[in-house]
Amino acid sequence: MYLLIPAAGSGQRMGSAWQRQNKAPRNKLLLDLLGKPILAWTLLAAEASQTITWIGIIGQPFDWDDFKEIVQSLKLTKPVHFIQGGTTRQESVYNGLQALPPEAEQVLIHDGARCLATPELFDRCTEALQTCDGLVAAIPVKDTIKVVSEGLVASTPERSQLWAAQTPQGFSVPLLKKCHLEGRTQGWEVTDDAALFEQCQLPVQILPGEETNLKVTTPMDLAIAEFILRQRD
Ligand code: CTP
Ligand code: MG
Repeated sequence: MYLLIPAAGSGQRMGSAWQRQNKAPRNKLLLDLLGKPILAWTLLAAEASQTITWIGIIGQPFDWDDFKEIVQSLKLTKPVHFIQGGTTRQESVYNGLQALPPEAEQVLIHDGARCLATPELFDRCTEALQTCDGLVAAIPVKDTIKVVSEGLVASTPERSQLWAAQTPQGFSVPLLKKCHLEGRTQGWEVTDDAALFEQCQLPVQILPGEETNLKVTTPMDLAIAEFILRQRD
């Protein structure tokens, strides 16, 4: 299975975590998490997966030296490719899809920032892609969610119908490419790839995600990620 890892963000919401590590702010995936950069944990899970055979890291060129150093230090056995990212996550994934080899029929897309996903989650996604063209790892939401308009609650969707989307998300490569192209033509702006599939009226299957598979977004997430990793030792 081919894996694309969007890692070309800047980590604006990570703010004060850099001061705490006495470094100047930059891509949050280079922040230290229990002795390794965040991205290293993501790569180790991909390496340990039994089904991933090809890894594409989508990054900004100014981060490549650091990314290459991480890859070398981990002594990964799987081939790793570096792909230039875009100004949005959507554009980064678009670039990643163009960089896949022509024989790639299916792809998993997994955010570099979801560094706690287990190898088994990747393998369950690969398995489920045998019988569908699009899937998203997700978990039921715990909070009651409000739709808000101009500071007032507009509605309260029934919680049992709400799921929090994670990555990995898995797709047929030709179909996802088509959806990305359609998205660019129509000017759709989305925050995940499943949304493009949906907008093209293609079915996206739910695959049970992992409660610990959080996206490291804020300094608090970094502290929680550290806590979760310590439990695993
Ligand atoms: N990402 C990307 N290209 C972009 C923006 C984001 O590949 N132009 C990646 C990030 O590196 C991350 C994932 O998409 O692995 C999810 O994005 P997010 O958590 O929002 O990360 P950042 O955009 O870096 O953080 P922020 O939004 O706080 O700036
Ligand atoms: Mg972002």
